[in-house]
Amino acid sequence: MQAVASVDPLALKQALTAAVGAGHVRNDAGPDHGATLLVLPGSTAEVAAVVAIARTHGVSIVAQGGHTGLVGGCQSHPGQIVLSLTRMALIEAIYPDERVAIVQAGVALEALQSAALTHGLEPGIDLAARGTATIGGMVSTNAGGIMAHRYGVMRHRVLGLEAVLPDGTIYSDMTRVVKNTAGYDLKHLFIGAEGTLGIVTRVVIKLEPLPQSTATAMLGLPSVAAAFEAINLALRVDAGHLRAAEGLWQSYIQLTARAQGWSEPSFPLDQPICLLLMLGGANQASLNEGIEQIFAAIFDRHPTATGIIAGSKRQESDLWRLREDTDQLYRAHAAAPSYDVSVPLSEIEAYVEHVTSGLNRINADLVPYIFGHLADGNLHIVLNRVGPLDTALSRAVDHVLYAALRALGGSFSAEHGVGSKRIPALVATSDPAKLATMMLFKQVLDPDLTLNPGKVLPIPTQAREKSK
Ligand code: LAC
Ligand code: ZN
Repeated sequence: MQAVASVDPLALKQALTAAVGAGHVRNDAGPDHGATLLVLPGSTAEVAAVVAIARTHGVSIVAQGGHTGLVGGCQSHPGQIVLSLTRMALIEAIYPDERVAIVQAGVALEALQSAALTHGLEPGIDLAARGTATIGGMVSTNAGGIMAHRYGVMRHRVLGLEAVLPDGTIYSDMTRVVKNTAGYDLKHLFIGAEGTLGIVTRVVIKLEPLPQSTATAMLGLPSVAAAFEAINLALRVDAGHLRAAEGLWQSYIQLTARAQGWSEPSFPLDQPICLLLMLGGANQASLNEGIEQIFAAIFDRHPTATGIIAGSKRQESDLWRLREDTDQLYRAHAAAPSYDVSVPLSEIEAYVEHVTSGLNRINADLVPYIFGHLADGNLHIVLNRVGPLDTALSRAVDHVLYAALRALGGSFSAEHGVGSKRIPALVATSDPAKLATMMLFKQVLDPDLTLNPGKVLPIPTQAREKSK
C-alpha cells in the first residue's frame, strides 16, 4: 500500500466523482468516522469502480451498511474512504413460490421483512436492530439474532451473492437454489468477513413461511435449568413452533423494567432469570393453550415460578421491549463494555456462575447484565461500568469470560463479529492453524490491504511498516 502522504486528494475525489456522480462523494464521513471521504455508489459496477480507483490511489476502503455493529468493524481513519451501501436499497425480486428474495446490500432487514410479509413469508432472521441493520451488513457480519435456533444464522440464509473483490473484480454467484456443489462454496469467504475480503453488493436470501399467529409469554424462573425445561417443552408444543426463547437475567430485566416504568404486580421481577417465549402457528387460541400447558408443567415442577401471557399486540410488544431495549444499558453506563459469547447449552448455568464469581473476584462491584438468545446459547454480557475499561482490567475480564470457552466448544464472538475490538481475543484464543489460514486468505485476496485493513485480523508487521 502506498503511503497516505503521497495520495493526491483532488485527483482521488475527481476520479470518485466521475465514477459515482457528483453529490455521491462527500468530504464529511460522519461524526464518528475518521475517514476523509464518504462515497455512495449506486450499483455493483460503481462499487467496483470505487475499489479500482482506491487501489490505484493507494487508499483503503471501509464498507458500511446500517452502522449498527458493536465491535468497531466500520471504524475508519483519516485518509480512508467510507463506502456506504445505503443507496443500493432495492428489493430486486421476490419469488414467493421458491421462497427466495434477491436484494441489494443496502436493504434494511425490516424493509425485506415488510416486502416478504405481503407474500406470507419472512427472511427467517430477526434482530433488535431490524429497522437499521442492512442485509449486506448482516451478511458481512454473519448476523444471528433471535431465530437462529430454528433457521440458522445469516450463513444459512444466503443462497448466493455478488461481491467486489479487493482488486475491483466483480465476483458474481447469484445462485437461487439450495443445492449447489459446483466446487468450493466461496460465498462463505465473504459471509462474516466484515468487508475484509470483498464488498457484498447483492444477496440471494431464503425466505420462510410466516405463521399466521404468534403468542408471547414471559416466565420468571428459579434457574437456568428451569428455563431449559420450558424451552424443551416449547420445542415440542403441538399447536405450533418455538420462534424465540430469550433469557433475561435478573440484573438486566430489572434495569430495563425500571427504565420503562414496568408496573405489573402479577409479574414481579425478582426471579434469578426470566424467559421470554414466542410461539408461532396457525391458530391463536391453540398457541395460547400451548403456552398454558408449558406454564402448568413448569409451575408444577417449580412452585415459585411466575408467568405472564401477552393478551394483546400491545402487551406482546411491551414484553419484547423489556428484552430489546438494550440502549438502557448504555444510558446507565456510557459505552459500557459489552461481550457476546456462545456457550454450549448444557454449560450455560456453570458458565454464568463462573463469570459472575470471576468478575466479583476482580472487583466486588463489577456486576454483569446478562441477556441473550438462550435457545442457541448466545449470551450478551454487559458490565456496569463506563467504558472503555483500562487495559489491565480489560485483560482480566477477557480472561474470565474467554479462557475456558474454546475448550468448552463455545466462542468468544457469537454474532457480533471481530471488528477491531475483538482482534486480541481472536489472536489469544483461536486455533493457530485457523488464524494462519485466515491470514493467508487475506494475503492472497487483498495483498495491498485495500479492504477494511486492521479489522478481523491484525495487520501483518511487514505490511504495517510498508503502510507508514
Ligand atoms: C441483541 C444484540 C445486542 O441481541 O445482539 O440485542
Ligand atoms: Zn443478540
